[in-house]
Amino acid sequence: MKKRILTGITTTGTPHVGNYLGAIKPSLELAEENSESFFFLADYHALIKTQNTIDIKASVKDVALAWLSSGLDTDKSYFYKQSDIKEITELSWILTCITAKGLMNRAHAYKAAIAENKSDEDKGINMGLFSYPILMASDILIFNSTHVPVGSDQLQHLEMTRDIAQRFNHLYKKTFNIPEAIVQEDKKVIPGLDGRKMSKSYNNIIPLLSDEKTLKKSIAKIVTNSLEPGDPKDPNGCNVFNLYTQFASLEQQSQFKNDYKEGISWGDAKNKLFNLINLELMPIRDKYNKLQEDKNLVNELLDAGAAKVRPLASEMLGELREIVGISKIE
Ligand code: ADP
Ligand code: TRP
Repeated sequence: MKKRILTGITTTGTPHVGNYLGAIKPSLELAEENSESFFFLADYHALIKTQNTIDIKASVKDVALAWLSSGLDTDKSYFYKQSDIKEITELSWILTCITAKGLMNRAHAYKAAIAENKSDEDKGINMGLFSYPILMASDILIFNSTHVPVGSDQLQHLEMTRDIAQRFNHLYKKTFNIPEAIVQEDKKVIPGLDGRKMSKSYNNIIPLLSDEKTLKKSIAKIVTNSLEPGDPKDPNGCNVFNLYTQFASLEQQSQFKNDYKEGISWGDAKNKLFNLINLELMPIRDKYNKLQEDKNLVNELLDAGAAKVRPLASEMLGELREIVGISKIE
């Protein structure tokens, strides 16, 4: 059977280097192989995090352009917006009814949110956040995906998807393929400016599509210790070094290690990092600027993508409705 690769990015905020290295780049590399690929904009997931309609629309455009600028070929893959495929939210309800509440209680994102609350642990937590792994399972299972490239922060959700698929298969009949996560071994979680996971939610991102000046400015904000130029520095646990390793060859890394030993200044170290990142992002930025000139492009491509993918979703949902007993009576 041909591999079916699927991945999505939530449309909140602007795409960052973590999204690029953790999701976009490895997915596009996989798509080069003999496989079918499904790449989508998870806009219903965005509603969990924000009610700002303008932000969501801007983000849909930017995330779409991030995929296209990074090399996605819409002729060779399915590229669509989650909300255009109504079958996904319909499947989400079917799966909600077979998913144990206890499974959702264990989700990291939900647990982190309640851990932040003091007297009332449910404060500010919507049901979307609680049941979000079920919507994600629907995204994946509606197309019977076989491989899902994600950052390692999403591994737990993939485990949950597998649990939910197995439960459905067990309760009804073998319907869903059990998908595998694909995580880049050596890259893992990309650190942000403050050393925590790079994430829109932490405001610590290096943007993917910004101009050079903004890129330079955000790199200048990377948190370091206060060692002076000339002082030998330890690359271990250093945010600048960690980010450098995400883009550098082994040879470049060992040269940079040497610079640290010899007491490179933080200014120079950040400049080296900027040059390296800029080299990789330059062609993406150029393409982004070019694609942006055509105002209708994103809508046209997403409409065409939805038309291409909808028949597959519709056929699957038809079968599922039959299986669970939501169909014409005999
Ligand atoms: P964010 O955390 O900024 O909200 P998303 O959750 O929308 O980002 O992530 C979209 C995709 O990018 C997922 O596959 C996720 O695993 C990947 N990703 C996000 N941040 C990182 C990171 N810091 N390192 C590696 N992958 C990441
Ligand atoms: N939950 C993912 C994230 O926030 C985005 C996402 C939604 C996704 N549905 C998906 C990723 C299905 C892979 C497959 O990073």
